[in-house]
Amino acid sequence: MSAYKRHLITAALPYANGPIHLGHLAGAYLPSDIYVRYLRLKGKDVLFVCGSDEHGAAITIKAKKEGITPQEVVDRYDAIIRKSFADFGIDFDIYHRTSSELHHETASNYFLELLEKDAFTVQESEQYFDAEANQFLADRYITGTCPKCGNENAYGDQCESCGSALSPTDLIDPKSTLSGSQPILKTTKHWYLPMQNHEQWLKEWINQGTLDGKQHHNPKEWKNHVVGQCNSWIDGGLQPRAMTRDLDWGVRVPVEGAEGKVLYVWLDAPIGYISATKQWAIDNGKNWEDYWKDEETRLVHFIGKDNIVFHCIIFPILLKAHGEFILPENVPANEFLNLEGQKLSTSRNWAVWLHEYLEEYPDRIDALRYCITSILPENKDSEFTWADFQARNNNELVAILGNFVNRAVVLTHKYFEGKVPTSDFDHSVLDEVKTHYGKVSENLDKFNFRQALSEAMNVARIGNKYLADNEPWKTIKTDETAAKKVIATSLVIAEHLKNVIAPFLPNTSAKLAQMLNVPQASWNTENTIASGHQLNPAQLLFTKFEDEEVEKQVNKLKEAAAAAKPIELEPAKPETTFDVFQKLDIRIATILEAEKVAKTKKLLKLKVDTGMDERTVVSGIAEFYSPEEIIGKQVCLLANLAPRDIKGITSQGMILMAESPDGKLSFTLPESTVPNGTSVS
Ligand code: 2FM
Ligand code: ZN
Repeated sequence: MSAYKRHLITAALPYANGPIHLGHLAGAYLPSDIYVRYLRLKGKDVLFVCGSDEHGAAITIKAKKEGITPQEVVDRYDAIIRKSFADFGIDFDIYHRTSSELHHETASNYFLELLEKDAFTVQESEQYFDAEANQFLADRYITGTCPKCGNENAYGDQCESCGSALSPTDLIDPKSTLSGSQPILKTTKHWYLPMQNHEQWLKEWINQGTLDGKQHHNPKEWKNHVVGQCNSWIDGGLQPRAMTRDLDWGVRVPVEGAEGKVLYVWLDAPIGYISATKQWAIDNGKNWEDYWKDEETRLVHFIGKDNIVFHCIIFPILLKAHGEFILPENVPANEFLNLEGQKLSTSRNWAVWLHEYLEEYPDRIDALRYCITSILPENKDSEFTWADFQARNNNELVAILGNFVNRAVVLTHKYFEGKVPTSDFDHSVLDEVKTHYGKVSENLDKFNFRQALSEAMNVARIGNKYLADNEPWKTIKTDETAAKKVIATSLVIAEHLKNVIAPFLPNTSAKLAQMLNVPQASWNTENTIASGHQLNPAQLLFTKFEDEEVEKQVNKLKEAAAAAKPIELEPAKPETTFDVFQKLDIRIATILEAEKVAKTKKLLKLKVDTGMDERTVVSGIAEFYSPEEIIGKQVCLLANLAPRDIKGITSQGMILMAESPDGKLSFTLPESTVPNGTSVS
């Protein structure tokens, strides 16, 4: 890695069809941000690019559902995503958009350059078409049963259940997402990437790290699950893949005879990394080509595992086929983060949304960074729970990191008016602390973020233990020299701590620098704390996360998911006649009295005024209404239902209720007060 002149770090462009949740953070954005901060601390030339992925079926389907234009969808979510990244401190050099003019021009030219290089084949074929919606159905526009695993909701390009890559014609029992109808076959022309011609070099590049006969990267540094997924794709035999689509939202295919066609979103989106670089170069007076066309640039893509094939196979083919571009040196994809025992899901609203978290806990940014980093799904899926968040916050950030810093600074203020006491330092403990720069580095260089964070936290652990073992608050009375040495040394430990935590906890590091009155973090084992140095007042770095907050968040999650659950309606009943309806005597009545029916859970005995008489009705509403709250209410009553004996009470009629799919009952109340006995018809 050290041989490289510069680093180009990309984080997957999120689809601008919804906000960012913790799964996104754990997949690509937090690890890339930590990595970039670390490289910057080491003084490397780094460019960190990202942006909104604004094309593709995810966007147009959402627009259709909401009855707005795709542009309105992307404008809305680009703004939300951009703000939450900025508020959370994901420190991109540029956050671009694929709907921008510069991106359209870049993607369009890239396609033309590939055409010139004969990178595509043109083919006419029969494809699924929705006659009702008048549209060809590719990718997410078509669903059906996966031929490999039987998942009934597989998409036309991929089965999210087993990860298989599919084409629409592979699906069993295909259905249009637009109309639900069965598609027909119709002829259309597309530009295909003959991926099968690239198998040989891809295999060598991925498994041996060689490219064009040269060592390109060390393949042992790639994650096993990434290499495994690539090999299973290649071994399954690569197929030609269409790089164009019959759609009107996207980058137009810039050739004659391609009207009504746009570039495939997975051709267009990764070019978004290039157009983002171009925009950044324009804004900063730099040359974008240095970052994409110079072998001395190290390109690393941070992504989630569902993007592996696109970044390790398809985009590399597109880069190599062009000929002038570098290939990624590594693609450290993460696996998935689950949430409270279930898969994260936008459609089921089973997610912790970043913008909501930031609104609720603006002072707990580093706590979330800490917790997610501790559980990153680096090599297998992992799980976020609010109880675990609480435990890590309270037992680690508050009790170890915060406690150590607070004790060191508060003691200095208490005994030495906030000045570093004049003393020599305890070099044995400081030497041990300094080894942690290496330990953190080694792990970050290998993308072992969890272990790297744990090594950084070990500096706080060492500091805490050092204070506890030496008890300067006691020795100050018996051996002032010893107490001074311990406090001065602890402050130096705190200064190193400020450096090693900086990539992970940038806000805490900055606060600590301010408190210690020392420069912001650097990857420098020299300390600036010296005898007589004046500290600033102590501030608390972390506060406890209480049980009530955990409960509140878990409930919020459950409620949001319940609200998003599609309602399963009862099947429609067969047609009836007006005559049958007219036989029902439905009238307004007022509840006069109500009491529970003994030894039952559900029944209330009601006395109602029907306008014609006062009568008794037994109703199964006791679980939803208390007797007190319904007295005086008007309800609809089926007044001519034959009397029935219920628990020994004769019920003369039935109160009409709405029963929701989860079994809750509620009255169908008249909107205004009407005389009792009024007919409902
Ligand atoms: O999976 C996704 O969210 C895609 N929008 C990622 C695109 S990454 C890149 F290629 F742009
Ligand atoms: Zn499947």
